[in-house]
Amino acid sequence: MSKVLVTGGAGFIGSNLVDQLVQDGDEVIVVDDLSMGLASNIPSSPKVTFYEHSITDHGFMKDLLLKEQFDYIYLLAAIASVADSVARPYETHQINQEANIFILEIIRQHKLPIKKVLFTSSAAVYGNNPELPKREDSTIDPLTPYAIDKFATERFVIDYGKLYNIPTVAVRFFNVYGPRQNPKSPYSGVLSLITECLKNQRVFTLFGDGEQTRDFIFIQDVLLALHLIMSNSQAVHEVYNVATGKQSSLLNIITDYQKVTDQSLSVEYLPARDGDIIHSCADITKLKGLGFNSKYTLFLGLSDYWVSASRN
Ligand code: UD1
Repeated sequence: MSKVLVTGGAGFIGSNLVDQLVQDGDEVIVVDDLSMGLASNIPSSPKVTFYEHSITDHGFMKDLLLKEQFDYIYLLAAIASVADSVARPYETHQINQEANIFILEIIRQHKLPIKKVLFTSSAAVYGNNPELPKREDSTIDPLTPYAIDKFATERFVIDYGKLYNIPTVAVRFFNVYGPRQNPKSPYSGVLSLITECLKNQRVFTLFGDGEQTRDFIFIQDVLLALHLIMSNSQAVHEVYNVATGKQSSLLNIITDYQKVTDQSLSVEYLPARDGDIIHSCADITKLKGLGFNSKYTLFLGLSDYWVSASRN
């Protein structure tokens, strides 16, 4: 049994991860300010402790790290929206970068015996670099405060690891989707918004012409990737793309989702959003080297998502 910290553990990816860790028998501590996450996402289990706190609260984070002496740390807390970071650059920076460096600094200063720290970065770091698919060593071109913070923090995490001998690793999530992705903000992940529109027969606003592409990965495949990376002692001071390696346009996704749900989605078109990336798709050779094989096609993932969304 390990003691694990999950920042952002009430959020979409975080809470699915907490479920998995509890099933694996770990003791899990969640820190989340519920800005996007929900307390109800966190499994009620004697193995889980939840602190409703922002990771930007230095005093709180320091006391927690010193008291709990975690084996593993997953740094998931973030303002997840690219567009939100364009609207609130300084605020999002405090969360997406500064708070995470403070955690590293406490680990360094107090020589905490951590087995591994994993930071969740993003495909947004590649920006509009036309080279596709994006390899971990492809050119970086961060276009937004979100992408800049993700890239800089990734480098801090890896460099703290190398310089101060802390086992660290970073992942670049591509577009993750699945149950519990919160559709409540206009900046929410596009598939959670489409799901809401299909459920409630509302009009979906599509920014751009719909030909923009993304590499969508279902949450269960993400959990598999995180497990492989966290448990492999060779996976340190590295960055891994977490994706499926498959590229789909928004229009194709809408077509597939209509088939899954047997409904038609009404779409209204607006101009593309500032800072929006046109094409995104991952090379996942490095992740496959750890034994990863995605189990969910887009059709299968959307089907699972729809079943779960229709229940709630
Ligand atoms: C997403 C994630 C980000 C992650 C990145 C990695 C969210 C909110 N963002 O950013 O955390 O780091 O993938 O690749 O999950 N769109 C519409 N209509 C809408 C909403 C979105 O047309 O109502 C379009 C957007 O303009 C964009 C595409 O859908 O072209 C995807 O948008 P979004 O889901 O916000 O994801 P990313 O910006 O790719």
